[in-house]
Amino acid sequence: MVATAAQHISALQHRYRDEVQAALHSAMACSDSGFFSLLRYHLGWEEADGKPANIATGKGLRPILCLTACEVAGGNWQDALPAAAALELVHNFSLIHDDIQDRDTRRWGRPTLWTVHGEAKAIAAGNAMRVIADHTLMTLVRSGMPTALVSDVAFELTGRYLEMIEGQYMDMSFEALDDVTVEQYLDMVGRKTGALIESAMYMGALVATSDREQASGFGACGRQLGLAFQIRDDYLGIWGDPAATGKAVGADIRRKKKSMPMVHLFEHAADTDRAWLDKAYAQDGEIGGEDVEQILELLDQLETPTHVQAAAVAEANGAMETVDSLGLTGSARETVQAMAEFFVTREK
Ligand code: IPE
Ligand code: IPE
Ligand code: MG
Ligand code: MG
Repeated sequence: MVATAAQHISALQHRYRDEVQAALHSAMACSDSGFFSLLRYHLGWEEADGKPANIATGKGLRPILCLTACEVAGGNWQDALPAAAALELVHNFSLIHDDIQDRDTRRWGRPTLWTVHGEAKAIAAGNAMRVIADHTLMTLVRSGMPTALVSDVAFELTGRYLEMIEGQYMDMSFEALDDVTVEQYLDMVGRKTGALIESAMYMGALVATSDREQASGFGACGRQLGLAFQIRDDYLGIWGDPAATGKAVGADIRRKKKSMPMVHLFEHAADTDRAWLDKAYAQDGEIGGEDVEQILELLDQLETPTHVQAAAVAEANGAMETVDSLGLTGSARETVQAMAEFFVTREK
């Protein structure tokens, strides 16, 4: 029987999970103080009252991409574990801050860190998570990787997460604009989501090959996969099942986010609808409940869900063209293809 993309990804998750978890626990073994309890709460390792827990949280896709890139580029995936763990920590730093920035109160079906401990402490926890990620990456030296290469990897990760932070700034700035073009949207998303996924594939391939040019090819594929991933994320933010995503549905609309569906709507709405939209968005504060309903109706009339999904698939196909230019064949290509398919068909 041919495995579906989801089954393929689930097998990869299973293959790498224990060692990624061990690397994360070892990275986080820095202190038992009250402060680090906030980080453990976010990761699902503790309840809000500090009791130990083992709650299913993120999908762990960035470590998987990094380890997969390492393997398909001919390396030993265990060598890339410090990079994989660092990626998951940077990702979680971004989520802690993102939930403050987006005023989101739920993630993975549980209260976000800032709603439990307040914004100021959640900002500190996010910053700490990022520093732990930087430290974790440095442990690549222990596996015998030449320091010049470790410095290359560190430059890549920090450079891409700097871009990610810039992307987050753009995402927030776009809340006040109503003429965001698809091009501007893709630029923003390439930074806020594509850059870290780019670094996942770059680092995995560099650990495997020590070849910067080849790693850049893998990175380019990752960046475009990141676009596909975020467009699907925008889709799920409106049409996903909150029981599956663990996030509130419609929050992006209320927050005036220029997610892909809204960019499509603003661009294609009939003149009278566009005038109504401009007025609704010109009002201070969030979009109200009745207006959200009206927007959902307009999105349906324009068949925006179909267009948005097609845009995600187009980016995933573009990423596969890059993969082909890298000369990946056989099971290596199939694995990346499964990842690309999963990114645009996932329900959570
Ligand atoms: C969520 O990413 C943030 C985005 C960049 C869209 P994931 O969907 O990979 O987050 P997890 O799986 O919940 O950690
Ligand atoms: C998240 O983007 C991007 C980063 C955290 C860098 P979103 O704000 O769209 O993601 P979710 O939907 O909250 O996970
Ligand atoms: Mg956000
Ligand atoms: Mg968010």
